[in-house]
Amino acid sequence: SNVLVLAGGISHERDVSLRSGRRLADSLTAHGFTVQLRDPDASLLPYLHRNRPDVVWPALHGASGEDGTLRALLEITGIPFVGSTADATRLAWEKPIAKTLVARAGVRTPASITLTRDAFRELGAVGVLETIAEQFDGPLVVKPTHGGSAQGVTMVDDSAGLPRAMVDAYNYGETALIEERIVGTEVAVSIIDTGDGPVALPMVEIVPRGGVYSFEARYNAGETRFFTPARVDETVAQRTADAALLVHRTLGLRHISRVDFIIDGVGTPWFLEANVLPGLTETSLLPLALEAAGHDLGWVYTALAEAAVR
Ligand code: DAL
Ligand code: MG
Repeated sequence: SNVLVLAGGISHERDVSLRSGRRLADSLTAHGFTVQLRDPDASLLPYLHRNRPDVVWPALHGASGEDGTLRALLEITGIPFVGSTADATRLAWEKPIAKTLVARAGVRTPASITLTRDAFRELGAVGVLETIAEQFDGPLVVKPTHGGSAQGVTMVDDSAGLPRAMVDAYNYGETALIEERIVGTEVAVSIIDTGDGPVALPMVEIVPRGGVYSFEARYNAGETRFFTPARVDETVAQRTADAALLVHRTLGLRHISRVDFIIDGVGTPWFLEANVLPGLTETSLLPLALEAAGHDLGWVYTALAEAAVR
Protein backbone atom coordinates (compact mmCIF):
# COMPACT_ATOMS: atom_id res chain seq x y z
CA SER A 1 0.00 0.00 0.00
CA ASN A 2 0.84 3.66 -0.27
CA VAL A 3 2.19 5.58 2.68
CA LEU A 4 2.91 9.27 2.81
CA VAL A 5 5.67 10.17 5.27
CA LEU A 6 5.62 13.83 6.27
CA ALA A 7 8.93 15.29 7.43
CA GLY A 8 10.54 18.69 7.72
CA GLY A 9 7.95 21.35 8.44
CA ILE A 10 8.57 24.83 9.77
CA SER A 11 9.44 24.11 13.40
CA HIS A 12 12.74 24.58 15.23
CA GLU A 13 13.14 20.80 15.00
CA ARG A 14 12.98 20.74 11.19
CA ASP A 15 16.38 19.11 10.72
CA VAL A 16 15.65 16.45 13.31
CA SER A 17 12.36 15.71 11.55
CA LEU A 18 14.10 15.33 8.18
CA ARG A 19 16.39 12.73 9.77
CA SER A 20 13.49 10.92 11.44
CA GLY A 21 11.50 10.96 8.19
CA ARG A 22 14.29 9.60 6.04
CA ARG A 23 14.99 6.74 8.43
CA LEU A 24 11.30 5.93 8.71
CA ALA A 25 10.80 6.06 4.93
CA ASP A 26 13.75 3.71 4.38
CA SER A 27 12.37 1.20 6.88
CA LEU A 28 8.90 1.27 5.31
CA THR A 29 10.29 0.96 1.78
CA ALA A 30 12.31 -2.07 2.82
CA HIS A 31 9.06 -3.61 4.03
CA GLY A 32 7.33 -3.29 0.69
CA PHE A 33 5.43 -0.02 1.07
CA THR A 34 5.31 2.52 -1.73
CA VAL A 35 6.60 5.53 0.17
CA GLN A 36 6.29 9.20 -0.68
CA LEU A 37 8.40 11.49 1.49
CA ARG A 38 7.04 15.02 1.57
CA ASP A 39 7.81 18.28 3.32
CA PRO A 40 4.37 19.70 4.13
CA ASP A 41 3.54 23.13 2.74
CA ALA A 42 0.49 24.86 1.27
CA SER A 43 0.26 22.24 -1.47
CA LEU A 44 -0.38 19.43 1.02
CA LEU A 45 -4.16 19.56 0.98
CA PRO A 46 -4.53 19.49 -2.84
CA TYR A 47 -1.86 16.77 -2.92
CA LEU A 48 -3.81 14.61 -0.44
CA HIS A 49 -7.00 15.22 -2.39
CA ARG A 50 -5.41 14.14 -5.68
CA ASN A 51 -3.38 11.19 -4.44
CA ARG A 52 -5.25 9.85 -1.40
CA PRO A 53 -2.51 7.73 0.19
CA ASP A 54 -3.72 4.72 2.19
CA VAL A 55 -2.12 6.10 5.32
CA VAL A 56 -0.10 9.13 6.42
CA TRP A 57 2.86 8.71 8.78
CA PRO A 58 3.67 12.15 10.24
CA ALA A 59 7.35 12.34 11.25
CA LEU A 60 7.11 16.00 12.19
CA HIS A 61 8.52 17.27 15.46
CA GLY A 62 7.72 20.52 17.19
CA ALA A 63 5.09 23.03 16.06
CA SER A 64 2.80 21.91 13.22
CA GLY A 65 3.70 18.25 13.79
CA GLU A 66 3.22 18.05 17.55
CA ASP A 67 0.88 20.97 18.27
CA GLY A 68 -2.14 19.34 16.66
CA THR A 69 -2.55 21.68 13.68
CA LEU A 70 -1.40 19.32 10.97
CA ARG A 71 -3.31 16.43 12.50
CA ALA A 72 -6.51 18.49 12.47
CA LEU A 73 -5.94 18.95 8.75
CA LEU A 74 -5.47 15.20 8.29
CA GLU A 75 -8.64 14.57 10.26
CA ILE A 76 -10.55 16.82 7.85
CA THR A 77 -9.35 14.74 4.89
CA GLY A 78 -10.46 11.50 6.55
CA ILE A 79 -7.20 9.79 5.54
CA PRO A 80 -5.96 7.56 8.37
CA PHE A 81 -2.70 8.57 10.02
CA VAL A 82 -0.30 7.07 12.53
CA GLY A 83 -0.23 8.64 15.97
CA SER A 84 -2.42 10.65 18.29
CA THR A 85 -5.48 12.69 17.37
CA ALA A 86 -5.27 16.46 17.03
CA ASP A 87 -6.96 16.93 20.43
CA ALA A 88 -4.67 14.59 22.37
CA THR A 89 -1.64 16.01 20.60
CA ARG A 90 -2.54 19.52 21.73
CA LEU A 91 -2.83 18.40 25.36
CA ALA A 92 0.59 16.78 25.33
CA TRP A 93 2.12 19.76 23.54
CA GLU A 94 1.05 22.24 26.24
CA LYS A 95 3.51 21.15 28.93
CA PRO A 96 1.73 22.98 31.79
CA ILE A 97 -1.59 21.37 30.86
CA ALA A 98 -0.05 17.93 30.42
CA LYS A 99 1.65 18.27 33.82
CA THR A 100 -1.61 19.25 35.50
CA LEU A 101 -3.55 16.33 34.02
CA VAL A 102 -0.80 13.85 34.79
CA ALA A 103 -0.45 15.06 38.39
CA ARG A 104 -4.20 14.72 38.84
CA ALA A 105 -3.91 11.11 37.65
CA GLY A 106 -1.40 10.44 40.43
CA VAL A 107 2.00 10.72 38.74
CA ARG A 108 4.51 13.13 40.33
CA THR A 109 5.75 16.03 38.23
CA PRO A 110 8.16 18.80 39.28
CA ALA A 111 6.58 21.93 40.75
CA SER A 112 6.56 24.77 38.25
CA ILE A 113 5.30 28.17 37.28
CA THR A 114 4.45 29.39 33.79
CA LEU A 115 5.28 32.94 32.79
CA THR A 116 4.55 34.94 29.67
CA ARG A 117 7.23 37.23 28.33
CA ASP A 118 5.17 40.24 29.43
CA ALA A 119 4.68 38.88 32.94
CA PHE A 120 8.42 38.31 33.22
CA ARG A 121 9.10 41.89 32.13
CA GLU A 122 6.69 43.19 34.75
CA LEU A 123 7.88 41.04 37.65
CA GLY A 124 11.58 41.13 36.83
CA ALA A 125 13.98 38.38 37.84
CA VAL A 126 13.79 39.30 41.53
CA GLY A 127 10.00 39.21 41.55
CA VAL A 128 10.02 35.86 39.78
CA LEU A 129 12.46 34.39 42.28
CA GLU A 130 10.26 35.62 45.14
CA THR A 131 7.20 34.01 43.56
CA ILE A 132 9.06 30.74 43.09
CA ALA A 133 10.45 30.80 46.64
CA GLU A 134 6.88 30.72 47.96
CA GLN A 135 6.34 27.39 46.19
CA PHE A 136 9.62 25.50 45.88
CA ASP A 137 13.36 25.94 46.21
CA GLY A 138 16.68 24.61 44.97
CA PRO A 139 18.08 24.54 41.45
CA LEU A 140 15.72 25.24 38.54
CA VAL A 141 15.15 24.27 34.93
CA VAL A 142 13.85 26.90 32.52
CA LYS A 143 12.26 25.76 29.26
CA PRO A 144 9.84 26.97 26.60
CA THR A 145 6.32 25.69 27.37
CA HIS A 146 6.26 24.27 23.84
CA GLY A 147 8.99 22.52 21.98
CA GLY A 148 11.40 19.66 22.00
CA SER A 149 14.94 18.40 21.63
CA ALA A 150 15.98 20.56 24.62
CA GLN A 151 16.03 23.72 22.53
CA GLY A 152 15.82 26.78 24.78
CA VAL A 153 16.28 24.68 27.93
CA THR A 154 18.70 25.92 30.62
CA MET A 155 19.71 24.48 33.99
CA VAL A 156 19.77 27.42 36.42
CA ASP A 157 21.93 26.98 39.52
CA ASP A 158 21.75 30.44 41.05
CA SER A 159 19.59 33.53 40.73
CA ALA A 160 22.17 35.29 38.53
CA GLY A 161 21.51 32.77 35.76
CA LEU A 162 17.76 33.29 35.60
CA PRO A 163 17.38 36.32 33.29
CA ARG A 164 19.55 34.82 30.55
CA ALA A 165 17.72 31.49 30.78
CA MET A 166 14.36 33.23 30.44
CA VAL A 167 15.50 35.14 27.36
CA ASP A 168 16.69 31.87 25.80
CA ALA A 169 13.34 30.21 26.45
CA TYR A 170 11.42 33.18 24.99
CA ASN A 171 13.35 32.72 21.74
CA TYR A 172 11.04 29.75 21.20
CA GLY A 173 7.69 31.28 22.17
CA GLU A 174 5.78 33.68 24.36
CA THR A 175 5.61 31.50 27.48
CA ALA A 176 8.26 29.81 29.58
CA LEU A 177 8.11 27.15 32.25
CA ILE A 178 10.27 27.39 35.38
CA GLU A 179 10.48 23.97 37.01
CA GLU A 180 12.07 22.69 40.19
CA ARG A 181 15.00 20.48 39.20
CA ILE A 182 14.74 16.88 40.33
CA VAL A 183 18.11 15.24 40.82
CA GLY A 184 18.28 11.64 39.71
CA THR A 185 18.35 9.30 36.75
CA GLU A 186 16.97 10.56 33.43
CA VAL A 187 14.96 7.91 31.58
CA ALA A 188 12.63 7.61 28.62
CA VAL A 189 9.84 5.07 28.24
CA SER A 190 8.69 4.45 24.68
CA ILE A 191 5.18 3.14 24.17
CA ILE A 192 3.85 1.29 21.16
CA ASP A 193 0.29 0.18 20.47
CA THR A 194 -0.20 -1.79 17.27
CA GLY A 195 -3.79 -2.62 18.11
CA ASP A 196 -3.65 -4.79 21.25
CA GLY A 197 -3.27 -1.95 23.72
CA PRO A 198 -0.27 0.17 24.71
CA VAL A 199 2.94 -1.66 25.64
CA ALA A 200 5.93 -0.05 27.37
CA LEU A 201 9.32 -0.88 25.83
CA PRO A 202 12.43 -1.33 27.97
CA MET A 203 13.26 1.99 29.57
CA VAL A 204 16.35 3.81 28.27
CA GLU A 205 18.65 5.49 30.79
CA ILE A 206 20.31 8.63 29.49
CA VAL A 207 23.81 9.60 30.63
CA PRO A 208 25.09 12.63 28.68
CA ARG A 209 28.88 12.98 28.75
CA GLY A 210 28.53 16.70 29.47
CA GLY A 211 25.95 16.12 32.22
CA VAL A 212 23.07 17.76 30.35
CA TYR A 213 21.01 16.07 27.61
CA SER A 214 21.27 19.08 25.32
CA PHE A 215 20.53 19.35 21.60
CA GLU A 216 24.17 18.47 20.84
CA ALA A 217 24.10 15.53 23.27
CA ARG A 218 20.98 14.24 21.50
CA TYR A 219 22.05 14.26 17.89
CA ASN A 220 25.81 13.65 17.83
CA ALA A 221 26.69 9.99 18.11
CA GLY A 222 28.86 9.26 21.15
CA GLU A 223 27.87 12.39 23.11
CA THR A 224 25.54 10.40 25.34
CA ARG A 225 25.74 6.93 26.84
CA PHE A 226 22.54 4.90 26.96
CA PHE A 227 21.71 1.95 29.17
CA THR A 228 18.82 -0.22 28.03
CA PRO A 229 17.25 -1.44 30.19
CA ALA A 230 18.01 1.33 32.69
CA ARG A 231 20.19 0.41 35.67
CA VAL A 232 17.43 0.59 38.27
CA ASP A 233 15.68 -1.99 40.47
CA GLU A 234 13.07 -4.20 38.90
CA THR A 235 10.34 -2.60 41.07
CA VAL A 236 11.42 0.92 40.11
CA ALA A 237 11.46 -0.07 36.42
CA GLN A 238 7.96 -1.50 36.73
CA ARG A 239 6.70 1.56 38.60
CA THR A 240 8.09 3.84 35.91
CA ALA A 241 6.66 1.76 33.05
CA ASP A 242 3.26 1.83 34.80
CA ALA A 243 3.52 5.61 35.21
CA ALA A 244 4.35 5.98 31.50
CA LEU A 245 1.33 3.89 30.49
CA LEU A 246 -0.86 5.94 32.83
CA VAL A 247 0.41 9.15 31.19
CA HIS A 248 -0.22 7.73 27.70
CA ARG A 249 -3.79 6.86 28.68
CA THR A 250 -4.45 10.04 30.67
CA LEU A 251 -3.53 12.23 27.71
CA GLY A 252 -5.47 9.97 25.35
CA LEU A 253 -2.44 9.19 23.17
CA ARG A 254 -2.57 6.69 20.33
CA HIS A 255 -0.18 4.22 18.62
CA ILE A 256 3.13 5.71 19.70
CA SER A 257 4.60 7.99 22.36
CA ARG A 258 7.62 8.48 24.55
CA VAL A 259 7.25 9.60 28.14
CA ASP A 260 10.28 11.18 29.83
CA PHE A 261 11.00 11.05 33.56
CA ILE A 262 13.62 11.72 36.19
CA ILE A 263 13.79 8.95 38.80
CA ASP A 264 14.77 10.43 42.16
CA GLY A 265 16.94 8.91 44.90
CA VAL A 266 14.09 6.94 46.45
CA GLY A 267 12.88 5.50 43.15
CA THR A 268 9.97 7.84 42.40
CA PRO A 269 9.52 8.73 38.72
CA TRP A 270 8.84 12.44 38.07
CA PHE A 271 7.05 13.18 34.81
CA LEU A 272 8.75 15.71 32.54
CA GLU A 273 6.84 15.43 29.28
CA ALA A 274 5.14 13.19 26.76
CA ASN A 275 6.32 13.21 23.14
CA VAL A 276 3.63 12.49 20.60
CA LEU A 277 6.11 11.95 17.80
CA PRO A 278 9.33 10.75 19.44
CA GLY A 279 12.53 11.16 17.45
CA LEU A 280 13.22 8.29 15.03
CA THR A 281 16.77 9.29 14.09
CA GLU A 282 19.92 7.16 14.39
CA THR A 283 20.57 8.52 17.89
CA SER A 284 16.95 8.68 19.10
CA LEU A 285 15.56 6.83 22.09
CA LEU A 286 12.54 4.99 20.66
CA PRO A 287 14.51 3.13 17.95
CA LEU A 288 17.08 2.27 20.63
CA ALA A 289 14.38 0.82 22.87
CA LEU A 290 12.87 -1.17 20.00
CA GLU A 291 16.25 -2.64 19.08
CA ALA A 292 17.01 -3.46 22.72
CA ALA A 293 13.71 -5.32 22.92
CA GLY A 294 14.71 -7.35 19.87
CA HIS A 295 12.15 -5.76 17.54
CA ASP A 296 12.81 -4.99 13.92
CA LEU A 297 12.19 -1.25 13.37
CA GLY A 298 10.62 -1.71 9.95
CA TRP A 299 8.31 -4.40 11.23
CA VAL A 300 7.04 -2.17 14.06
CA TYR A 301 6.65 0.91 11.82
CA THR A 302 4.72 -1.29 9.38
CA ALA A 303 2.50 -2.65 12.14
CA LEU A 304 1.75 0.93 13.25
CA ALA A 305 0.77 1.94 9.72
CA GLU A 306 -1.51 -1.09 9.53
CA ALA A 307 -3.02 -0.30 12.95
CA ALA A 308 -3.82 3.23 11.75
CA VAL A 309 -5.79 1.89 8.78
CA ARG A 310 -7.86 -0.57 10.85
N1 DAL B 1 11.46 16.10 20.19
C1 DAL B 1 12.40 15.05 19.85
C2 DAL B 1 12.38 14.77 18.42
C3 DAL B 1 12.14 13.83 20.65
O1 DAL B 1 11.29 13.87 21.48
O2 DAL B 1 12.81 12.83 20.42
MG1 MG C 1 10.72 16.14 23.90
